[in-house]
Amino acid sequence: MKALNTLRLAINTVRWNIVGNFADVEHDYDQASTTYDSYYGRYLGSITDQFAEKIPLKGHERILELAAGTGRLTSAVCKRLKPDAHLTAVDLSEGMLAVNKLKNSHTNGPRVDFWHGDALDAISERKAESLDAVLCAWGVCYFNHDTLRTQVERVLRPGGILAIIENRKCTLAEISALFEQLIVSQPRYLRKAIKINLPEDARYLTKKFCQGSLTHLNSWNGSLDIPYESAGEVREYMLKSGASAGFLDAIEPSSRDEFLYAFEQLVAAQKKRVPLTHQFSVLLAQKN
Ligand SMILES: C[S@@+](CC[C@H](N)C(=O)[O-])C[C@H]1O[C@@H](n2cnc3c(N)ncnc32)[C@H](O)[C@@H]1O
Repeated sequence: MKALNTLRLAINTVRWNIVGNFADVEHDYDQASTTYDSYYGRYLGSITDQFAEKIPLKGHERILELAAGTGRLTSAVCKRLKPDAHLTAVDLSEGMLAVNKLKNSHTNGPRVDFWHGDALDAISERKAESLDAVLCAWGVCYFNHDTLRTQVERVLRPGGILAIIENRKCTLAEISALFEQLIVSQPRYLRKAIKINLPEDARYLTKKFCQGSLTHLNSWNGSLDIPYESAGEVREYMLKSGASAGFLDAIEPSSRDEFLYAFEQLVAAQKKRVPLTHQFSVLLAQKN
């Protein structure tokens, strides 16, 4: 039965890929926008702040921030910028960007603009060598990495900085395995293909982005374990942190509650505590 279900899922996934039937990330982030900071931000926010500290900035830069979301990185970077600096925060989710606007529409800090839409569209509209930095925290998985690299190389001026932090392919591995187990047991749960392009590790980011005019400055891997007391809290974290964005919309809406209930039961039934561990990678690079 398991082999048959796996085959059924594989055939469906090929079909959905061909017809472009992908889960809607924008919808999932709009849903999570009001709780994102209290869940993802509560734990990963300090990692984002440490990443922001490491970005080599002088304070006067013209910056494009991709997938800026609710603005944890926007705020951390703005603290390091002078009033003559300019940051444009781009995001696909209007809900996420609305929270960012509330926090970062300063009157006396650097100029901050907000751009609602696809990040690759936003960067491709920029003139060649017009930016000092392109930043992206926890959003590179939603882009085609080759297209992004080509655009970053084009828009950065010589000496300009690319800074990326992202979850790795192995992030939340044990939780993902339980999600998969449920879907294989009930293929009807899934109605769309999931398109998330997580990097393997820091070495992958370096190889992918530093093969042309970008030079590696620094890169590292890290991890953070999210504490929890009960299986219900794991379910809550996955729903409210945005950690399942790009996946939730792929679940058949009429079965979503059933799926989440079954997921919680599965977590509770494990003999050992299921690790809720984010694995992430960072790359800092500079245009030659
Ligand atoms: C995990 S959140 C990261 C938000 C923020 N950078 C932070 O550090 O908290 C990922 C963000 O990527 C955005 N996103 C997903 N696909 C996108 C796309 N194609 N273009 C722009 N933003 C996108 C989502 O709307 C979401 O706000």
